Amino acid sequence: MKPLAKAEKLAQVRYEVRGPVLDEAEKIAAAGHKILQLNTGNPAAFGFSAPQEILDLFAEEARKSQAYCPSKGVPEARRAIAAQMAKKGVTGVTEEDIYIGNGASEMITVCMQALLNPGDEMLIPAPDYPLWTAAANLAGGKAVHYLCDEQANWSPDIADIKKKITPRTKGILVINPNNPTGALYSKDVLLEIAQIARKNGLVLFADEIYDHLVMDGKEHMSIASLAPDLFTVTFNGLSKSHVICGYRVGWMALAGNKTGADEFIAGINVLSSMRLCANVPAQRIVPAALANFTETDAMLKPGGRIYEQRKTIVEAVNAIPGLHTTMPDAAFYIFPKIDAKRFNITDDRQFVMDFLKAKHVLLVNGRGFNWLEPDHFRIVYLPPVEELATLSDKLGSFLESYRQ
Ligand SMILES: Cc1ncc(COP(=O)(O)O)c(C=O)c1O
Repeated sequence: MKPLAKAEKLAQVRYEVRGPVLDEAEKIAAAGHKILQLNTGNPAAFGFSAPQEILDLFAEEARKSQAYCPSKGVPEARRAIAAQMAKKGVTGVTEEDIYIGNGASEMITVCMQALLNPGDEMLIPAPDYPLWTAAANLAGGKAVHYLCDEQANWSPDIADIKKKITPRTKGILVINPNNPTGALYSKDVLLEIAQIARKNGLVLFADEIYDHLVMDGKEHMSIASLAPDLFTVTFNGLSKSHVICGYRVGWMALAGNKTGADEFIAGINVLSSMRLCANVPAQRIVPAALANFTETDAMLKPGGRIYEQRKTIVEAVNAIPGLHTTMPDAAFYIFPKIDAKRFNITDDRQFVMDFLKAKHVLLVNGRGFNWLEPDHFRIVYLPPVEELATLSDKLGSFLESYRQ
């Protein structure tokens, strides 16, 4: 056989969340050590469970779901998603505007493939959820990163977005609430981003997979609800809100003014058809899931697991000399800053690798989220508070002597 080189189109495609540091963690685990795996936001791996009603329904529906369904998805599920969009103030969305995928991930890839020609640019936040950068690059486009400002609680830097628009820019992505920072964006910021899209004729993409995981009584606003005159594509799913990442059900909703978008939508349709359809039993639970967020809400209130774990990790990390984190508004991540000078860190992947080898905890380095400097990392705060306290002790003791 001829040597099998990696396809050239993958040259700019990276996904550190499950990258080389995970490979090392698997080797350590194979040698018999327990690894605390904090590389993915995977709540069920930490003892969270979906409502019993959802688990029972999935089992029941699996028996009835042997056939393919329409490429866009099961109609009842799409109707429930359209109704959910209306509840959030996004008007005019019908089941025809909904596309269900094997997770939002699949639809993100479909969208980038349908949108981008070589050299076309997508404005993506830094830090980002790295699938977006990878999917834009895989599609032959160019991910151009705009900064989110840690001093402003990780809000998008509007001036930086404006600076980075070029004649090749096709879309702006907002990840709200954000992974990895946990930030929730204000209405004013969303309006400003919408105005930039309006002025420059850009598509707005909104990844809102954490919209039901907001704490402290704050309210999530869909950017699509604030800009009905623009063409917006909103992504969501049940992975996080109903802690069923493994069921693989997510979607996108096209909304607003579709004038001029026919060809793009035709591209989405052909790509959706090519994969026949998404996992059917998981789609069938969507109407019941969207009617019930009670258990999700309970995790986010004082006394609830996510709320209490957030408090524990933020206090513990901020007590470690050389580390600082903002208080996240949503989701289950923090993105602490590490004083790179103090620890002489020039390679943040090396830092998480060294920590893994020394303490058997798997984290993801900031550059894995397309952050530019080697001075951040992400902690998934899904483990129970006792385990988070142990984690921060390990981090503190490791940093006492760590220098690169
Ligand atoms: C911001 C963001 N978008 C999308 C996804 C993928 O979600 P899904 O499980 O629906 O593919 C994730 C997963 O962590 C995420 O953090």
